Amino acid sequence: MVPLFADTPAPAWLPPAARAAIEQLQKSELGTTRIYAVNTLHGEPRVVVVGAGKPAELDAERARNIASAGMRALWRANVARVAIAVPEPTIGELRGAQAAVEGAIYAMWRPEVHRTRAEERRLPEIESVLLVTDKPVPDAIERGTAIGEATNAARRLANEPANRMTPTLVAAAAEDLAKDAGLRFEALDADRCRALGMGSYLSVAQGSHEPPRFIVLRHQGRGGQGYELGLVGKGITFDSGGISIKPADNMHHMKADMTGAASVIAALGAIGKLRLPVNVIGVAPCTENLPGGGATKPGDVFTAMSGKTVEVINTDAEGRLVLVDGITYAQREGAKRVVDVATLTGAIAVALGHHFTGLFGRPASFVELVRATGAAAGDRLWAMPLSDEYRDEIKGEVADIRNSAGREGGAIKAAAFLESAVEDGTEWAHLDIAGTFWFERDRAQAPKGPQGPVVRTLVALAEHLAQQR
Ligand code: BES
Ligand code: MN
Ligand code: ZN
Repeated sequence: MVPLFADTPAPAWLPPAARAAIEQLQKSELGTTRIYAVNTLHGEPRVVVVGAGKPAELDAERARNIASAGMRALWRANVARVAIAVPEPTIGELRGAQAAVEGAIYAMWRPEVHRTRAEERRLPEIESVLLVTDKPVPDAIERGTAIGEATNAARRLANEPANRMTPTLVAAAAEDLAKDAGLRFEALDADRCRALGMGSYLSVAQGSHEPPRFIVLRHQGRGGQGYELGLVGKGITFDSGGISIKPADNMHHMKADMTGAASVIAALGAIGKLRLPVNVIGVAPCTENLPGGGATKPGDVFTAMSGKTVEVINTDAEGRLVLVDGITYAQREGAKRVVDVATLTGAIAVALGHHFTGLFGRPASFVELVRATGAAAGDRLWAMPLSDEYRDEIKGEVADIRNSAGREGGAIKAAAFLESAVEDGTEWAHLDIAGTFWFERDRAQAPKGPQGPVVRTLVALAEHLAQQR
């Protein structure tokens, strides 16, 4: 696989016939990440030529796109061994190598897993991927592999329909991953959660026959007490809206309303596999949100684990109800920083569209750390405001806070609700992925469907905190 830059000769190590063909190609306009040829020259290896744009414009994201697009060109081929020429201009060989590995792995995902015709779900059976670099790059390969596989794992969990990814099955998947990655695993049932005072979380679960599972993963990379980082993921395995039921159009997308949980579980897997010298706790409160006979009714009041009382105005604003108890739990377990990830509001997609994840939190220095770390890792996060006026608007009529307070600024009010569980001295960031968790068109790094958002940000943040110590 050869990235072909504008005005740059083909690598000298290529067979002469391939080089000649590439020189011919370069006489025309090259489109970035376009595939130009998958040739089999007689008796020689195939060469996948990927348009790579101008050398000076290369960044890690484009390098990931190039590798992913090149690998995707092999979906129909019977190729077992791939060599990727790592482009070295501007971003350096290490980052280039990590980006190539990540990108190649992203292309080894497709969503049609339940098709009965094998060729419709087929991926090439790649035995080995060789990186062509000047120096050995084992760390870059290890990190690229861990992050790439974690993102694909998050996509796989989010892609499964609700009947095949119930809270119990999310917990089973998390337990498997924990074994692989050397994490401690626990899944608290409803009785345990009741004993801990998680009235807000359980208010969502009571409308379904499917038992809830509050998943806890622990990575003790430095040993000792406390956690440098707590990750909390929204795990609604199906969001019908509850009694405030959703319209039928596109309701099936709500099978992926556990994408936050998927991203957190997958990120912990990568953090464990990389043995980062830092303590991280991952929490995923999982449940269905259904309108069964026992369901919460609009107006009902519950007491959250934080001790605050919550008035449920709209049962479809359920994500914030499960998250506050997750955030409280992570802090009680000793997390000094908490990052939550949630498909929380349609309003964030109204505000930002589908290309930026909404970012909230406090203090501003932590929000900026998350933004910058995310950007370097390849996620686009946009910082949103959160001020006292919004905090006022979520005050309840009969209880401390209410879970819904009008459409305007809906994503910000949701963040203000979450903040009610953030204790003094905790650094907190909230990532609203409701615009970015799913994409309706094929993109370089993923086909239409679940995207596996912010997994790389979470892993990079843990890496950063490990280096800080
Ligand atoms: N899971 C939804 C948000 C969502 C919508 C995610 C579309 C992905 C795509 C969330 O639980 C929800 O229903 N939010 C409501 C909140 C409202 C009732 C205050 C919303 O956004 O309409
Ligand atoms: Mn909802
Ligand atoms: Zn939801």
